[in-house]
Amino acid sequence: MAFASAPSPRVELARAKVNLALHITGRRDDGYHLLDSLVAFPQIGDRVALEPAPALDLKLEGPFARELAGPAGDNLVLKAVRRFAETAGIDLPSLRLTLTKRLPVASGIGGGSSDAATTLRLLEDFTGTYLTEETMHVLALSLGADVPVCLFPEPQRMRGIGDDLSPGPVLPSCGIVLVNPKVGVSTPDVFNALSERNNAALPLIPDRFESLAQLAAYLASCRNDLQGPAVDLCPEIGAVLSALEADARIDFARMSGSGATCFGLCELSQAMEIERELRQAHPHWWIASGPLS
Ligand code: C5P
Repeated sequence: MAFASAPSPRVELARAKVNLALHITGRRDDGYHLLDSLVAFPQIGDRVALEPAPALDLKLEGPFARELAGPAGDNLVLKAVRRFAETAGIDLPSLRLTLTKRLPVASGIGGGSSDAATTLRLLEDFTGTYLTEETMHVLALSLGADVPVCLFPEPQRMRGIGDDLSPGPVLPSCGIVLVNPKVGVSTPDVFNALSERNNAALPLIPDRFESLAQLAAYLASCRNDLQGPAVDLCPEIGAVLSALEADARIDFARMSGSGATCFGLCELSQAMEIERELRQAHPHWWIASGPLS
C-alpha cells in the first residue's frame, strides 16, 4: 500500500535588516524622511514556513509571538498574502503560514518588513506566479518603506525613503552581536525628535571591505542620525551601547534603524562568547549573534 507523503513546507529565514550607517538627508512634503543608509542582513532572523492548507491561516510561534497578538488581518504577512493575490490576479491561496517570531517586534531591525518580504518571495514559488521585479518592488513598498530592501537580503545602499536601492559593498567575513534592551521606542517619535534633517549623504562606499578593521574605520566616518534622539527618548539604548563599546573584542558598535536594537561587529569566532557573557551580565536583554552576511 502506498502512502501519499504530505508536501514539505517551504521554509526560509527572514533575516534581520541592520542599518550599519544611516544619514537623514531631508524630508518630503508628506513628512517621510529621506535617508542614505548602508544595510546588511546577518544570518539571524525569524522563520517563515508555507504549506498547503484548506484555507488561509496564520500560526504564530516563537519567543516574540505574543507581541504580535491582535486582529489577525492586521499582521503584515497576511497583508502580504492578500496584496500578492490581488496584484497577481489570482485567488487567495489556501495555505498555512507559520511565523516563528525570534526577533523583537518594532526594534529597528526590520523584523516585520523582512517577514513580509520573505512571504512574498515564498508565495511566488508556492503559487508558481512570478511577478516582475518592478511589480514586486511596488507591491513591497505598499506594505512599508523597509519591505523592498528586504526582498534581497544582501548588502545594499538605501536612499529615498528606503525605496531607492543599489547593490552594496562586499562585506568582510565577520560576526555581529545584536542587543535589544527590550524597551520599545516609537519610530515616528524618534524621527520627530530630529533637530537636523538636511545632513550630508554617506561618504563614498568602496566596492569591497577587505577586513573588519577597514569596515569599522569606514563606519566610524558615518553616523546613525536617529541614534541621538533615540538615546534621549530611551536611555536604556545608551546602556546597551556602553556595554558593547566597553568590550575590547568589539570593533564597532551602533544603533540600527530607529532603535532600540544595537549591534556590535567582531571576529566571527568571538561572537558566541560575547553573546554568552552579555547574556550573563544582562539577563533581561535580548541578545543574538551570528555571521554578518
Ligand atoms: O513605513 P513604516 O511604517 O515603517 O514607517 C513608520 C513611520 O516612520 C512613518 O509613519 C514615519 O513617521 C516614519 N518614517 C519616516 N521616514 C521614513 C520611514 C519611516 O519618517 N523614510
